[in-house]
Amino acid sequence: MLNGKKILVMGVANQRSIAWGCAQAITQAGGEVIYTYQNDRIKHSLSKFVPETSLLVECDVSDDAAIEQTFAEIKAKVGQIDGIVHAIAYANPEELEGKVYETSRSGYLLAQEISAYSLIAVAKYGRDLLKPNGSIVTMTYFGSERAVPNYNVMGIAKASLEASVRYLARDLGADQIRVNAISAGAIKTLAVTGVKDFRSLLEESEKRTVDGQSVTIEEVGNVAGFLLSDMATGVTGDIIYVDKGVHLQ
Ligand SMILES: NC(=O)c1ccc[n+]([C@@H]2O[C@H](COP(=O)([O-])OP(=O)(O)OC[C@H]3O[C@@H](n4cnc5c(N)ncnc54)[C@H](O)[C@@H]3O)[C@@H](O)[C@H]2O)c1
Repeated sequence: MLNGKKILVMGVANQRSIAWGCAQAITQAGGEVIYTYQNDRIKHSLSKFVPETSLLVECDVSDDAAIEQTFAEIKAKVGQIDGIVHAIAYANPEELEGKVYETSRSGYLLAQEISAYSLIAVAKYGRDLLKPNGSIVTMTYFGSERAVPNYNVMGIAKASLEASVRYLARDLGADQIRVNAISAGAIKTLAVTGVKDFRSLLEESEKRTVDGQSVTIEEVGNVAGFLLSDMATGVTGDIIYVDKGVHLQ
């Protein structure tokens, strides 16, 4: 499905990361993966399990100059690319508990910056590199639509991310670039452990799946592979649930 395609995957921190599920699915479908990492600590973790020949490029999305530099480096080393997986989010743990009206201005802005604005910045600098029929896929969560306990400021950032997907899809359509999000079910990753009482969130979520088993990073990765492929040229500006039906019940 992805033979000959070069896909940039942003957001692998470890082998539990949703981005790692995406990278594996892309590889299995015949695609080549380029990785970005947030900092040296994550590079060290990554280099233990990604294939030795992979290109790894640093990219801290809190800095526009760093994003621009990342895409310039990728352009110089691999040329044009076919797709981007954006699987990045962050909020201060102290904002992922309690009452939303206690959210600090700085905590709100940080969550928006890393979890929502970064998609716009990535689209801005990635646009030049993406070939026609290019595809951008980001990761969202149901907490954008429903008031999920403790998800708070991240739910607000995810709502912003989903709106950004729609506006970007409109504006990149003329460049033949599609933009979609996957609304993944709750999975135990590093990011989730920042949410207070995350064990209850994971248990409750698993209970609400149609078969009592949480979705996996492989299942999310497979749908990302589809959205990145030419099988999905008719899909843009959409949010696709990959949550084993949690949003239904
Ligand atoms: N785990 C879940 O239950 C779940 C459900 C739905 C959506 N998501 C979303 O999936 C995405 C991936 O998260 P995950 O659950 O795989 O957790 P994860 O912790 O494995 O991945 C989060 C990634 O964000 C990166 N990141 C954070 N700040 C950054 C910065 N300033 N610059 C560059 N990278 C930065 C981290 O380095 C890490 O690689 C996130 O957008 C998350 O909100 C997760």
